[in-house]
Amino acid sequence: MNALTQDELKTLVGQAALAYVVPGEIVGVGTGSTVNKFIEALASMKDRIPGAVSSSVASTERLRALGIPVFDANEVGELAVYIDGADEIDGRGFMVKGGGAALTREKIVAAEARRFVCIADESKLVATLGAFPLPVEVIPMATQRVVRQFAALGGVARVRLKDGVPLVTDNGQHIVDVTGLSLTDPLAFESEVNQWPGVVTVGVFAHQKAQVCLLGTSGGVKTLK
Ligand code: 5RP
Repeated sequence: MNALTQDELKTLVGQAALAYVVPGEIVGVGTGSTVNKFIEALASMKDRIPGAVSSSVASTERLRALGIPVFDANEVGELAVYIDGADEIDGRGFMVKGGGAALTREKIVAAEARRFVCIADESKLVATLGAFPLPVEVIPMATQRVVRQFAALGGVARVRLKDGVPLVTDNGQHIVDVTGLSLTDPLAFESEVNQWPGVVTVGVFAHQKAQVCLLGTSGGVKTLK
């Protein structure tokens, strides 16, 4: 049998995540190409859930296009589960996220959920976080100050561009991507960077880590807890 493509692995975990959706409960939905597979799969059980809380404009549009109602996070209380992808995940469930620039809303919805189920293909599993450029959402007037603060830690931070100009997030802010850091203590790192002036959210998800990871591998879906 041929090895599965990365796209097929994403489909596999997107479908496997349905087992974690609680019938009768609103589900938290992340952002990205893996989550898009989950959203497609979720349409098959839309009559068994009231709807979703979404972490981005892009996911909201996809959910609504499939007839899945989307609620404002302020209208709902605690969520049973939040399903989202990751750019990197380690064996403890700590993640780097924000490759799709949706990290702040992702962290908000994750914080509302009792359980974070990460869906990822096996390329995302790492021993130590930090090889993927770390996304940080920053208020535009603070970007150069934040770039200097990362330089002092030995990192190189660059403002993310789209069509040649700084990308603007769903929240009207900018993203800096940081390379050259090895995140050996994700909990402490997240706490420190999150209190720098101008930082909206750092893309380390350690305080909002995954309780379950559904990893798409050539041998099928592996569940890491
Ligand atoms: C978006 C994210 C995504 O979860 C992350 O970038 C993974 O995306 P993909 O499933 O496309 O690889 O954090 O902000």
